[in-house]
Amino acid sequence: MPRQFFVGGNFKMNGVRQSITDIVKNLNSAKLDSTTEVVISPPALYLTLTRELADPKIGVAAQNVFDKPNGAFTGEISVEQLKDTSINWAVIGHSERRVILKESDEFIARKVKAAVDGGVSVIFCIGETLEEREANKTIEVVTRQLNAAAKELSKEQWAKVVIAYEPVWAIGTGKVATTEQAQEVHAAIRKWLGETISAQAADDVRVIYGGSVSEKNCRELATQPDVDGFLVGGASLKPAFVDIINARI
Ligand code: G3P
Repeated sequence: MPRQFFVGGNFKMNGVRQSITDIVKNLNSAKLDSTTEVVISPPALYLTLTRELADPKIGVAAQNVFDKPNGAFTGEISVEQLKDTSINWAVIGHSERRVILKESDEFIARKVKAAVDGGVSVIFCIGETLEEREANKTIEVVTRQLNAAAKELSKEQWAKVVIAYEPVWAIGTGKVATTEQAQEVHAAIRKWLGETISAQAADDVRVIYGGSVSEKNCRELATQPDVDGFLVGGASLKPAFVDIINARI
């Protein structure tokens, strides 16, 4: 069965009540490709507002979640608290948390496991830095990041994971990966899924691209056989996000 196209909008630490309300209302009133799954991810303070405002067909994701169920972890948010507020998605492993907050592959993998165990689907972010790409280590790096999650998840649990390949050097830089670069890495990720998890996972798991996606470059990227969608940062805050969601129509 063909994989459902997936577009995520990662607002990052941007927006306040009014601007987030405006974004959501624009999405609610827009004509969106009904075959595309859309999930938006506001800052944590606005998760419940976004969930209440957004059309039920639009998913809402936290930008992070902790690996422990509860306790003395100041500032963290638990899987139970996401479920309690009808938040059924989480973005985990974003490079900004790996690089800035020094989150390890193992910690991120534990968070993916905790989320899936608790019924929260995951946008699992992986990707290499510019230094790693220039050293021809891209596949080695994404494989290492994937292997950490494979140690935690059962084969069946990958059905609750969308893998987001986000080359760090393309995030927020305007330097989008070329179609060939994206397809090459996505194909390698799909090969890894088939070899490490299962043929079913290779067929079913969406592998989406993130890193300077815009309404100008999304259509070409969307033509690639192993590009199943996008995780959009800056452009998700703009009306052009609708054009990216509709990249295939
Ligand atoms: O998570 C998506 C984000 O990292 C991509 O950011 O602004 O390059 O689309 P941007």
